[in-house]
Amino acid sequence: MAHGTQEPSLNEANSWPASVDAGTKDKSSLSEVDWGFPDRRSHSEIEGVHPYPAKFISEIPRALISHLPLPRNSAVLDPFCGSGSTLVESQRLGIPAVGIDLNPIACLMSRVKTMACPTDLEQHAARITLSSEETTDIEIPEIPNLDHWFQPNVQVEINRIARSIVAAPSEARDALKLALSSIIVRVSNQESDTRYAAVKKDVDPSTVPRLFLRAVNRINAALQKRNYPLTPVEVVESDILKVEPSVIERPIGLVVTSPPYPNAYEYWLYHKYRMWWLGYDPLKVKTDEIGARAHFFKKNHHTAEDFARQMRQTLTLLDGVIVKGGFASFVVGRSKIHGKIYDNAKIITDEAAPLGFKPFFVTERILSANRKSFNLSHANIKTETVLVLRKEVE
Ligand SMILES: C[S@@+](CC[C@H](N)C(=O)[O-])C[C@H]1O[C@@H](n2cnc3c(N)ncnc32)[C@H](O)[C@@H]1O
Repeated sequence: MAHGTQEPSLNEANSWPASVDAGTKDKSSLSEVDWGFPDRRSHSEIEGVHPYPAKFISEIPRALISHLPLPRNSAVLDPFCGSGSTLVESQRLGIPAVGIDLNPIACLMSRVKTMACPTDLEQHAARITLSSEETTDIEIPEIPNLDHWFQPNVQVEINRIARSIVAAPSEARDALKLALSSIIVRVSNQESDTRYAAVKKDVDPSTVPRLFLRAVNRINAALQKRNYPLTPVEVVESDILKVEPSVIERPIGLVVTSPPYPNAYEYWLYHKYRMWWLGYDPLKVKTDEIGARAHFFKKNHHTAEDFARQMRQTLTLLDGVIVKGGFASFVVGRSKIHGKIYDNAKIITDEAAPLGFKPFFVTERILSANRKSFNLSHANIKTETVLVLRKEVE
């Protein structure tokens, strides 16, 4: 692993000195990676605690973090951290990490996957299901189209658990919320996680507490199974376009991210009812979500220009926090906007150039054939680009 074995010559490093060439060796070791990861068989327990669309397979951030050198005392940043894959891999490799995402379910996942396992989690969950059995007549929150998506008796059960979680000890609450969030689609009328259509399912309401307990059990086991020290991870819930550099308190040696891009996935839609039930506002997320399809089908719709501007703003933030000679890596596909294909890696490269970021390594990786999306036009795009930029040393 590069971090720790290839130490820069300065101790409290804030940059690579001009004389250090992180170049040839690391570039060639990145070229040796098979970015299709053909040996991957299944996900680890921690990756599987909750579904998330378009998430990294853990091998991608692991390869980037392992093959790129980091100055000592610098951290890894994922400005679009989603389910926290980069944060988990960084933590596994003993490097502090910072993640940012505007989606509260993403932040919940990222926090839970990197936190210490709460004590007595399963007992708290059991207490919640028992106490919620005794609770009657709790007002169901006002959620649009609730009866279309959830049977009335299922609504009662979800609401009981959601209300009881609020009274659980604070250190256990996030894990309990994540467990509830993970079963919402299953107990709803939604056909599946990737099919946003209501079907008749006849869910037995007793399934709700049963699945909740099983989800808590799964999360507890995944957290306990981690066999590495929990280096610090900070998760910031914010629209990246509103983040000031001062929010990121550590010098960043490496960015590992897959940005949202036009007309691809709908993260807010995927988690819409999870957010409503947990008391978050999905409509606010929809408004600020970069690339959401809703922005491309309205009057005065967004264009590739809007995406370029959003990436410019993000890269300006990265420029303010990455050490000199640090790396910024992006895994990004192409977009189809009103019939025209855009190369998002090229857009990012072009926007980064005036800030002093130069291409260091670029390759195409083949997307797994079973990767699912709400958006069928996206499903036809078979490769994505792994792009590593390097911030100029001087
Ligand atoms: C491709 S996903 C990242 C997935 C992540 N690599 C993982 O492994 O889970 C892109 C993420 O960007 C987030 N996002 C979209 N617009 C954003 C914005 N304006 N500010 C911050 N995050 C945003 C989405 O919520 C989504 O989680």
